Amino acid sequence: MKTQMKRIATILLCLCAMACSSEEADLKAQPAASGGRTLIVYYSFTNNVRTIVGELAKQINADVLEVQPAEEGLDYAANNYAIGSRLIAAIRQHPEDPASYPSIKPSNIDVSQYDNIIVATPLWWSQMAAPMQSYLFQNGAKMAGKRIGLIVSSASSGISSTVADAKRLIPEGLFLEPNLWIRASQVGQASTMLAEWIEETGLNKDDQTSDMKIKVSDGENIVIFQLNSTSAARSLFNMLPIEVEVENYSNNEKIFYPTPALQYGNDCIEGDCPAGTIALFSPWGNVVMYYAPASRYSGLYILGHAIEDAHLIKNLSGTIRVEPVTTTDASLTAATADRQDIYSIDGSRRITAKANGLKSLKKGLYISNGKKIAVK
Ligand SMILES: Cc1cc2nc3c(=O)[nH]c(=O)nc-3n(C[C@H](O)[C@H](O)[C@H](O)COP(=O)(O)O)c2cc1C
Repeated sequence: MKTQMKRIATILLCLCAMACSSEEADLKAQPAASGGRTLIVYYSFTNNVRTIVGELAKQINADVLEVQPAEEGLDYAANNYAIGSRLIAAIRQHPEDPASYPSIKPSNIDVSQYDNIIVATPLWWSQMAAPMQSYLFQNGAKMAGKRIGLIVSSASSGISSTVADAKRLIPEGLFLEPNLWIRASQVGQASTMLAEWIEETGLNKDDQTSDMKIKVSDGENIVIFQLNSTSAARSLFNMLPIEVEVENYSNNEKIFYPTPALQYGNDCIEGDCPAGTIALFSPWGNVVMYYAPASRYSGLYILGHAIEDAHLIKNLSGTIRVEPVTTTDASLTAATADRQDIYSIDGSRRITAKANGLKSLKKGLYISNGKKIAVK
């Protein structure tokens, strides 16, 4: 999947009183978007992992958190890597002792909000870089039951001991396979390597879906849409319920104008729109429901797709009510309970109407519930 979605989280640093006194983690991150289900947490000393994470954030919908050592300006590579080497040795000797781990700046990100956590780290002396170990020592237990993706960058050493560190520090994480090893010399190819890795791990499988379903009804015709998790889709969902006029546009779409206009960010998805797609045409601010396919268009952002009765989009007219539903929501059942499936006499065309809506049908023969009926 080429999601091209990006949600970068920035967490304002608490560099004042908290950090000055702190022996705790201090974390810098980019601005946070709410509702994200994937967190990328990374540390980088010489920017290789930072570059890798920049590429990754272009490809998946995730918040990003950078681990920062509390003590700034340390050169871990100076004097033949003396500082970095000492930090790793201390952890190796007493991995269970909090005092073995270097202090990092604090974060206000709650990892329990996330389903997927991608840990991206350099390798130091075959182990996970010390500041990342500090973060996971503090937060790894909260990652129980979450899907964990691991990305490691080294100059040349194999990553098995770093993988072992991750599993020690996140003992109940559900580790995705495979891990991704990007050598320093491969950072230029990170974009391609990440795209393949995302596909292999299945990380792309649910990052567009959400638990947001909506019902669009004009009283006669009801269509259920599954929304994706983009900012524009959330914006629509958050303003529901609404009642608006639906209009015909071109020969393949029904449109309406939500008020106020939907908010959208750079996480939005452009792409071809098969029949049943619901989308935001951002230049005009209207929502589009396609009953016949449309091609990708600049600023046309996909919000989701119909999961029930896409063929009825074409029939929507007049005032429509747009409201949230869930699969457990009684309204979904209610929405369909008062309907009767009616087919043209040759069975080629389905015309769904309310049970009491037969009068709206033209004179003729129809099939309803397997029986022939005549409308006079
Ligand atoms: C303290 C320290 C120790 C390192 N130890 C190793 C090592 O044992 N094997 C290796 O292949 N690379 C080692 N490296 C190189 C880094 O793993 C590699 O350059 C990585 O891409 C750095 O990521 P970064 O730029 O995000 O910090 C070490 C780097 C540092 C700073």
